[in-house]
Amino acid sequence: MPEDDKTQPTRREAFIKLGVGSVAVACAGAGVFGYSYLSPNVLYEPSPIANAGKPDRYPLGSVNQDLEAGIYIIHSPEGFYALSATCTHLGCLTVWNADLDIIACPCHGSKFSKQGVKLEGPAPRGLPWLKVWLGDEGELLVDRASVIPPKQYLRT
Ligand code: FES
Repeated sequence: MPEDDKTQPTRREAFIKLGVGSVAVACAGAGVFGYSYLSPNVLYEPSPIANAGKPDRYPLGSVNQDLEAGIYIIHSPEGFYALSATCTHLGCLTVWNADLDIIACPCHGSKFSKQGVKLEGPAPRGLPWLKVWLGDEGELLVDRASVIPPKQYLRT
Protein backbone atom coordinates (compact mmCIF):
# COMPACT_ATOMS: atom_id res chain seq x y z
CA MET A 1 0.00 0.00 0.00
CA PRO A 2 1.48 3.38 -0.93
CA GLU A 3 2.11 5.57 2.08
CA ASP A 4 0.82 8.78 0.53
CA ASP A 5 -2.66 7.38 -0.45
CA LYS A 6 -4.94 9.19 2.04
CA THR A 7 -8.23 8.08 0.41
CA GLN A 8 -7.78 4.43 1.40
CA PRO A 9 -8.54 3.64 5.08
CA THR A 10 -5.72 2.24 7.03
CA ARG A 11 -5.97 -1.25 8.37
CA ARG A 12 -6.52 0.16 11.84
CA GLU A 13 -9.40 2.40 10.63
CA ALA A 14 -11.02 -0.51 8.79
CA PHE A 15 -11.00 -2.66 11.95
CA ILE A 16 -12.44 0.23 13.99
CA LYS A 17 -15.29 0.69 11.49
CA LEU A 18 -15.95 -3.04 11.46
CA GLY A 19 -16.04 -3.07 15.26
CA VAL A 20 -18.38 -0.07 15.47
CA GLY A 21 -20.67 -1.68 12.87
CA SER A 22 -20.76 -4.95 14.81
CA VAL A 23 -21.63 -3.15 18.05
CA ALA A 24 -24.39 -1.20 16.25
CA VAL A 25 -25.92 -4.43 14.86
CA ALA A 26 -25.72 -6.08 18.29
CA CYS A 27 -27.41 -3.06 19.93
CA ALA A 28 -30.18 -3.05 17.32
CA GLY A 29 -30.79 -6.78 17.90
CA ALA A 30 -30.83 -6.30 21.65
CA GLY A 31 -33.30 -3.44 21.20
CA VAL A 32 -35.66 -5.58 19.13
CA PHE A 33 -35.58 -8.46 21.62
CA GLY A 34 -35.88 -6.08 24.56
CA TYR A 35 -38.94 -4.43 23.04
CA SER A 36 -40.65 -7.76 22.38
CA TYR A 37 -39.78 -8.92 25.90
CA LEU A 38 -41.17 -5.80 27.56
CA SER A 39 -44.31 -5.40 25.43
CA PRO A 40 -47.40 -7.09 26.92
CA ASN A 41 -48.12 -10.58 25.67
CA VAL A 42 -51.90 -10.20 25.54
CA LEU A 43 -54.39 -12.26 23.56
CA TYR A 44 -57.36 -10.13 22.58
CA GLU A 45 -60.53 -12.19 22.43
CA PRO A 46 -63.88 -11.07 21.11
CA SER A 47 -66.56 -10.07 23.58
CA PRO A 48 -68.67 -12.97 24.86
CA ILE A 49 -71.78 -10.79 24.48
CA ALA A 50 -73.72 -11.50 21.28
CA ASN A 51 -76.36 -9.08 20.04
CA ALA A 52 -79.24 -11.12 18.64
CA GLY A 53 -81.32 -8.16 17.51
CA LYS A 54 -84.89 -7.21 18.31
CA PRO A 55 -87.16 -9.89 19.80
CA ASP A 56 -89.76 -9.35 17.08
CA ARG A 57 -87.34 -10.97 14.62
CA TYR A 58 -88.15 -14.29 16.25
CA PRO A 59 -91.66 -15.68 15.71
CA LEU A 60 -93.23 -17.60 18.55
CA GLY A 61 -92.07 -21.22 18.44
CA SER A 62 -88.99 -20.47 16.32
CA VAL A 63 -85.52 -21.90 16.82
CA ASN A 64 -82.84 -19.74 15.24
CA GLN A 65 -79.18 -20.57 15.04
CA ASP A 66 -76.57 -17.82 14.94
CA LEU A 67 -73.66 -19.61 13.33
CA GLU A 68 -71.22 -16.79 13.95
CA ALA A 69 -72.01 -16.54 17.66
CA GLY A 70 -72.49 -20.30 18.10
CA ILE A 71 -75.84 -19.96 19.85
CA TYR A 72 -79.51 -20.75 19.43
CA ILE A 73 -82.20 -18.18 20.16
CA ILE A 74 -85.46 -19.91 20.95
CA HIS A 75 -88.80 -18.17 21.32
CA SER A 76 -90.97 -20.52 23.30
CA PRO A 77 -94.43 -19.86 24.74
CA GLU A 78 -92.71 -19.39 28.14
CA GLY A 79 -90.34 -16.73 26.74
CA PHE A 80 -86.95 -16.39 25.10
CA TYR A 81 -83.94 -18.45 25.94
CA ALA A 82 -80.53 -19.11 24.42
CA LEU A 83 -78.55 -22.30 24.14
CA SER A 84 -74.93 -22.82 23.29
CA ALA A 85 -74.66 -24.51 19.89
CA THR A 86 -71.38 -26.17 20.85
CA CYS A 87 -71.70 -29.90 21.42
CA THR A 88 -70.70 -30.94 24.92
CA HIS A 89 -68.93 -34.04 23.59
CA LEU A 90 -65.94 -32.69 21.63
CA GLY A 91 -67.06 -29.21 20.73
CA CYS A 92 -68.52 -29.55 17.24
CA LEU A 93 -71.11 -27.04 16.13
CA THR A 94 -74.56 -28.59 16.33
CA VAL A 95 -77.36 -27.89 13.85
CA TRP A 96 -81.09 -27.45 14.24
CA ASN A 97 -83.16 -30.06 12.40
CA ALA A 98 -86.67 -28.62 12.10
CA ASP A 99 -88.07 -31.79 10.48
CA LEU A 100 -87.11 -33.93 13.47
CA ASP A 101 -87.55 -31.11 16.00
CA ILE A 102 -84.10 -31.78 17.46
CA ILE A 103 -80.65 -30.27 17.63
CA ALA A 104 -78.14 -32.75 16.20
CA CYS A 105 -74.39 -32.95 16.25
CA PRO A 106 -72.91 -33.94 12.88
CA CYS A 107 -69.69 -35.27 14.37
CA HIS A 108 -70.67 -38.29 16.48
CA GLY A 109 -74.45 -38.26 16.41
CA SER A 110 -75.45 -36.71 19.72
CA LYS A 111 -78.99 -35.37 19.75
CA PHE A 112 -80.58 -32.74 21.96
CA SER A 113 -84.08 -31.46 22.45
CA LYS A 114 -84.70 -27.78 21.75
CA GLN A 115 -84.57 -27.27 25.52
CA GLY A 116 -80.97 -28.49 25.32
CA VAL A 117 -81.64 -31.84 27.02
CA LYS A 118 -79.41 -34.65 25.78
CA LEU A 119 -81.50 -37.32 24.04
CA GLU A 120 -78.84 -39.70 22.76
CA GLY A 121 -75.21 -40.00 21.71
CA PRO A 122 -71.83 -39.65 23.40
CA ALA A 123 -72.33 -36.08 24.67
CA PRO A 124 -71.90 -36.15 28.47
CA ARG A 125 -74.62 -33.56 29.14
CA GLY A 126 -77.12 -31.27 27.47
CA LEU A 127 -76.50 -27.97 25.77
CA PRO A 128 -75.96 -25.17 28.29
CA TRP A 129 -78.50 -22.40 28.72
CA LEU A 130 -76.96 -18.96 28.37
CA LYS A 131 -77.87 -15.70 30.05
CA VAL A 132 -80.23 -13.56 27.92
CA TRP A 133 -81.46 -10.05 28.65
CA LEU A 134 -82.75 -6.98 26.88
CA GLY A 135 -80.23 -4.25 26.06
CA ASP A 136 -80.82 -0.51 26.28
CA GLU A 137 -82.13 -0.46 22.71
CA GLY A 138 -84.49 -3.37 23.37
CA GLU A 139 -82.33 -5.92 21.62
CA LEU A 140 -81.68 -9.45 22.86
CA LEU A 141 -78.21 -9.83 24.32
CA VAL A 142 -76.66 -13.20 25.05
CA ASP A 143 -73.65 -13.73 27.26
CA ARG A 144 -71.94 -16.80 25.85
CA ALA A 145 -69.72 -16.97 28.93
CA SER A 146 -72.61 -17.10 31.45
CA VAL A 147 -74.23 -20.48 31.83
CA ILE A 148 -77.50 -20.36 33.75
CA PRO A 149 -79.77 -23.08 35.12
CA PRO A 150 -82.35 -24.29 32.57
CA LYS A 151 -85.84 -22.89 32.35
CA GLN A 152 -84.97 -19.28 33.10
CA TYR A 153 -86.95 -17.58 30.36
CA LEU A 154 -86.84 -13.96 29.31
CA ARG A 155 -90.33 -12.57 28.98
CA THR A 156 -90.60 -9.47 26.81
S1 FES B 1 -68.75 -33.64 19.13
FE1 FES B 1 -70.88 -33.82 19.14
S2 FES B 1 -71.22 -35.92 19.41
FE2 FES B 1 -69.08 -35.73 19.38
